[in-house]
Amino acid sequence: MLTTQNETAAQLDISWVRSQFPALTQTVHGNPAVFLDGPGGTQVPQRVIDAVSDYLKQSNANTHGAFATSQRTDAILDEARSAMADFFNCLPNEVAFSPNMTTLTYAVSRAIGRELAAGDEILLTRLDHDANVSPWLALEERGVKIQFVDIREDDCTLNMDDLISKITDHTKLVAVGYASNAVGTINPIKEIVHLAHRHGALTYVDAVHYAPHGPIDVASLGCDFLVCSTYKFFGPHMGVLYGGDEFLERFRPYKLRANTDSIPNCWEWGTLNHECIAGITACVEYLADLGRKAVPATSTRREALLAAYSTIQQHERALFEQLVIGLRAIPGLKLYGIDDVKRFDQRCPTVAVRIAGHPPRELSEKLGQRGFFTWDGNYYAIGLTERLDVEKDGGFLRIGLAHYNTAEEVSRFLGVLRAIVA
Ligand SMILES: Cc1ncc(COP(=O)(O)O)c(C=O)c1O
Repeated sequence: MLTTQNETAAQLDISWVRSQFPALTQTVHGNPAVFLDGPGGTQVPQRVIDAVSDYLKQSNANTHGAFATSQRTDAILDEARSAMADFFNCLPNEVAFSPNMTTLTYAVSRAIGRELAAGDEILLTRLDHDANVSPWLALEERGVKIQFVDIREDDCTLNMDDLISKITDHTKLVAVGYASNAVGTINPIKEIVHLAHRHGALTYVDAVHYAPHGPIDVASLGCDFLVCSTYKFFGPHMGVLYGGDEFLERFRPYKLRANTDSIPNCWEWGTLNHECIAGITACVEYLADLGRKAVPATSTRREALLAAYSTIQQHERALFEQLVIGLRAIPGLKLYGIDDVKRFDQRCPTVAVRIAGHPPRELSEKLGQRGFFTWDGNYYAIGLTERLDVEKDGGFLRIGLAHYNTAEEVSRFLGVLRAIVA
């Protein structure tokens, strides 16, 4: 969520932040690289790179052995579970690791699907990334009925009236994104969880896009499952699941006989990517250090993470206002999603645009040649690009800000985009 300008979070130390990320010094044809591709994957601090390579140098082994490197590996996995428990505000045994969010969602949907039958319903949304759609759609083969919540076309928010009308006592699960990776909308998760629970439905929240921009608190949200990918918030390529312990215990994941039945391990298939898991702790520690720098009085890692996100939100809000003001001044540009500054607390700093006469791919290519990294297309938010009828015309150009971007980068980006479309 983007905080309002007059809230007083401590200022982000942008030069310290940028000094942490070695990739930010890259150039393209002599121009500094500007990373506006964060929604597709963020850059990582040096300490994440170090943690991955240190693991391979010093601790590389399989788990539960009777020797030093294996014992170090066990400890590294435990540390990462604790780090992600602080990140989610849950217990370490409620955290499961996997190669990515998609794999986790298929695993959970298979396990939940085993208990569903014809007549049961699942509620999905048109705003979601396909990774929170197709794994649930696959349950149609069991006779499960899939319903979709529509959007409000004018601001690309979820149509809550539609959602309310479609949750019934037949609804067994509501799968919803915390924030849209295409148009930035933040969904009212707490309210949706409340509505779902009133009808006895489970909730599965895709927090992949939200995680780099706002603090996650599963205890306060009350959701049953929540999933994210660490490569979207300054860590290695991995997926992480929060599952309330009663649900991780209650559902039966498909698993190998040799794998233990204890949670969360029974949800983790095969040998994990230990080096990346070592990097996850470093990534959470980076964010916590950012918070400690901003608010030295923080006492726990969770408090430090909350402090980090309030400075991140304040910084991103200022950049985003600058970006949107500049975009609006470009003739022929259509911005999708919430564009009212007063409602920016309902969105992330990820913006989708189309510019008349300039296909998204062509814009992204021209920007890329000049060092500005943006995405074009549907980024798997295919329900949305189809609903808005832009799929056939190349989708959107997506500009995604992260906390390591600067006002100077935004200003140069706007100048270059203006010149490209002039
Ligand atoms: C909102 C959202 N959900 C899910 C995913 C899929 O994540 P993963 O690549 O970890 O499977 C993405 C990836 O772009 C995403 O942006």
